[in-house]
Amino acid sequence: MNDLERLQMRFEAAVQAARDETALEEVRAAFLGRSGEINAIRRSIGRLAPADRPSAGKAINDTVERMETVLGERQTVLAALDVQRKLEERIDVTFPATQPQVGSIHPVRRVIEDACAYFERHGFAVVLGPEVEPAYYNFDALNIPEGHPAREALDSFWIDDTLLLRPHTSPMQIRTMQLHKPPIAIVAPGKCYRRDAVDARHLFQFHQIEGLLVAEGIHFGHLKGMLAGLCRALYGPYQRVRFRPSFFPFTEPSAEVDTTCPKCQGKTTACSMCGGAGWIELGGAGMVHPNVLREVGYDPEIVSGWAFGFGAERLALARYEVDDIRRFIDSDPDFLEQLA
Ligand code: PHE
Repeated sequence: MNDLERLQMRFEAAVQAARDETALEEVRAAFLGRSGEINAIRRSIGRLAPADRPSAGKAINDTVERMETVLGERQTVLAALDVQRKLEERIDVTFPATQPQVGSIHPVRRVIEDACAYFERHGFAVVLGPEVEPAYYNFDALNIPEGHPAREALDSFWIDDTLLLRPHTSPMQIRTMQLHKPPIAIVAPGKCYRRDAVDARHLFQFHQIEGLLVAEGIHFGHLKGMLAGLCRALYGPYQRVRFRPSFFPFTEPSAEVDTTCPKCQGKTTACSMCGGAGWIELGGAGMVHPNVLREVGYDPEIVSGWAFGFGAERLALARYEVDDIRRFIDSDPDFLEQLA
């Protein structure tokens, strides 16, 4: 094997090893370029005997021709590979896009809106009131005089000597009745504040939905019917309600209202929602106390009414089967998205 054949073999190996057109061009320059190996051999022809020069020149030219063929073939292969690579890297328009984070309605707001919508369907108006209230609206007008033990758990966040953050939405009963003559049919949702220690069932800031119906001939049956309907609207058609005797200074008689546990329907003793009780407590209710009616200038001999105050977070806990009320204020997008 002569020098040219060896050179050709080295060249072919280098060409096959070139992975792209830039590498191939480097190989070409090294062998066939101006200062490449072929030119070096050409320059050495001058040193040969004149008779040998033509055949040496022809041998070189033949080698160059073969080298260029090999180069051209490799170029075609690399160009095809390049097209394939570009096709693979091409943007896939069917690939799922990066979604912008969009918000959703908070579960507590949703339950408030749905509860209000239920009452609106039955002719009730939705009213909103201040979160800072005089003690008069929070207590005195609601038949809770100063020194009454019922004040103790409620008079939490004072702004000054007479103003405090409302611990319940019941002040809206008074405000509405002072402004309007009966019949009255309202619901009043909103924030409330109490100095409760925070745990899985309590927050110091929460929401209530107050309801009030006052007219001639209103009785406890109306209250039961409306609240059973509310629970069915929120939780499903088989929902039942239970009234347990209780005490509130502004209603007589008074009751605590429970609904059948929406998770287990009272069927299991190991339910994580109701602890096996089969019932979930929603809040208080009762017939408006005559003293409250008198306070706003109504005649309890002529009109009567019912009122209730439910915790909106409690309604939402039961509805979405959430284990801890604090999740509602954690602002964890993963949690909120599940309920969206
Ligand atoms: N205001 C009461 C509470 O916060 C609930 C209630 C409202 C009870 C209306 C009776 C009637 O505990």
